[in-house]
Amino acid sequence: MDKKLVVGNWKMNLLREEALELSGAIVSLLGEDYDACQVVLVPPYTVLDVVRRGISGSNIDLGAQNVFSRMSGAFTGEVSAPMLLDAGCSWAIVGHSERRHIIGETDEQIREKLLLSISCGLKVILCVGETEVQREEAIRESEDISTRKEMLFSPIKTQIKNALHDLDEERISEDIVIAYEPVWAIGTGKNATSSEIAEIHGYIRELLTEMFPRLGDSVKILYGGSVKTGNIKRIMSVDEVDGVLVGGESLSADSFFRIIKSVGV
Ligand code: PGA
Repeated sequence: MDKKLVVGNWKMNLLREEALELSGAIVSLLGEDYDACQVVLVPPYTVLDVVRRGISGSNIDLGAQNVFSRMSGAFTGEVSAPMLLDAGCSWAIVGHSERRHIIGETDEQIREKLLLSISCGLKVILCVGETEVQREEAIRESEDISTRKEMLFSPIKTQIKNALHDLDEERISEDIVIAYEPVWAIGTGKNATSSEIAEIHGYIRELLTEMFPRLGDSVKILYGGSVKTGNIKRIMSVDEVDGVLVGGESLSADSFFRIIKSVGV
């Protein structure tokens, strides 16, 4: 997994025909053998099969926006990791802030989802990030830089530790990608500055190498939150940014293509 990664999270958008058109358009723009960076499309469950068809023959991977923490059984409305693999997915997003904050997913549920997914052979994109209130509090309440940093890093530290503690080190670099997505930058058009991104990505790298001394250094760390054609170059120039998780802008073939080309240089 040494290539940079671009993930397009379509969220709750697109019907079958639109999904087929968009995935087909992305493949035509990129070319089937494009592999300068790894691209993953993450459509809603209802169009996974359509997008699988749209990207077949290309190097684009398929991912799911969520996954349940049991293999099968009486869990109405849920979809399991084996089902996602069967549908052609090789990736699942776990712990997206919209699931944490709108659906109310807990760190414990997120860990269960992550563990079962990797044990089934899915790669996981674990999303973490602070809310606007948490960031503002850290800036307002702290008297010195080290307290500010401690307060700012604290929600991210908790999310990562709760999800990954005691995990087999070998699984870390192969199967798990971290996506830092400041909640206040998702879908808002607000951008984290380069130094804000560098500060958090640097911290996540430190934490990963502390938790996993041998392989923590090789885990990819993505940035997400209002990634656009206009800011992708700046974001990718920040240290420790190994790729991006793109929401809104991944719904336009042209914009998503331009983002991919800026990453895979
Ligand atoms: P956005 O979403 O690019 O629309 O801000 C990113 C995400 O939620 O993954």
